[in-house]
Amino acid sequence: MSTRTTLITGIGSLVTNDPGQGTGPLGLLTDAAVVIDGDRVAWVGPAAQAPAADERVDAEGRALLPGFVDSHAHLVFAGDRTAEFNARMSGQSYTAGGIRTTVAATRAASDAELDANLAGFVREALRQGTTTIECKSGYGLTVADEARALRIAAKHTPETTYLGAHIVAPEYAEDPAGYVDLVTGEMLDACAPHARWVDVFCEKGAFDGDQARAVLTAGIERGLTPRVHANQLTYGPGVQLAVELGAASADHCTHLTDEDVAALAGSATVATLLPGAEFSTRAEYPSGRRLLDAGAVVALSTDCNPGSSFTSSMAFCIAVAVREMGMTPDEAVWAATAGGAHALRRSDVGTIAVGSRADLLLLDAPSHVHLAYRPGVPLTAAVWRAGVREV
Ligand code: NIG
Ligand code: FE
Repeated sequence: MSTRTTLITGIGSLVTNDPGQGTGPLGLLTDAAVVIDGDRVAWVGPAAQAPAADERVDAEGRALLPGFVDSHAHLVFAGDRTAEFNARMSGQSYTAGGIRTTVAATRAASDAELDANLAGFVREALRQGTTTIECKSGYGLTVADEARALRIAAKHTPETTYLGAHIVAPEYAEDPAGYVDLVTGEMLDACAPHARWVDVFCEKGAFDGDQARAVLTAGIERGLTPRVHANQLTYGPGVQLAVELGAASADHCTHLTDEDVAALAGSATVATLLPGAEFSTRAEYPSGRRLLDAGAVVALSTDCNPGSSFTSSMAFCIAVAVREMGMTPDEAVWAATAGGAHALRRSDVGTIAVGSRADLLLLDAPSHVHLAYRPGVPLTAAVWRAGVREV
């Protein structure tokens, strides 16, 4: 069956993330063209040599890069935490306990409301160039509410994560061990069919190292792959546990010892940094530089959630990572695209190469550096997801 082909030509600067195709780790090409065939990239190269196609788009010198891969988001929820944010910006500190506010609102919401909220966020992210997005449960905390969160999430993305261990459910406040039993037992049984990943918030006020190990191990036994909320608010065992269990990613990585950094650098576990969380909790940023210099693979992600980081903007995360976390614009753009793909163990997204999924972001700018150079400015000119022009 023949599919429709689209030639995007006149690309001033093309980020392929394939060093075999161009210069540096971003595999940069100038005066380039890309051909989309169906949902795939079919050709990449110099504009002057581009083949003919059914349709032609002239990029007029703009930059083209892979769609953003947002590998950490919490988008199945209802309710609002404006007041909590406002109080924080007036001096109160962030604690894991605020999650309970969203749990109450999420439990009270209908399936249709949660579905519509999630669809809205996926669309909002897509308009800003995000073509792959991960989505966690974690605001239900009962067997039925966690399972429905994942059922709803799975309608919108294959990257679904079981986070029953977000905090101890309010009903189990006096019996955290009982809650861990639920999360590793009946709740896991109900959730595993709808999830690809298992996650745990390993933190003071949430789950300690032993509890986190129990949750992740149970998930692994059910065929889920681990990822961990680690070392966000305090130093702790999360990163070491993630590395030991072969987690795809350790997320936050804000408070790291030298041993934590070395463990990440010596492993396949990606360090996923979430600058929106430090921004919105007025906390100290993690050091991307330290991790990169040690040799760790770094991803950037939004952590989009109503409490600690209510942004869906990968461009914002890139700008903050460059300004505050010691990353170069090239490193930050790589982390937001190929880095996210590594964190989700995806080889079909995060690059622009023959055979990769045609997830493309055309910027209203001549270079990917503008994502950091022009903070806060909407730069999306066009977005293709799986070959379909969405924006
Ligand atoms: O990743 N760290 C745990 N979970 C979220 C916060 C969720 C919330 O405050 O609602 C995070 O920052
Ligand atoms: Fe998170």
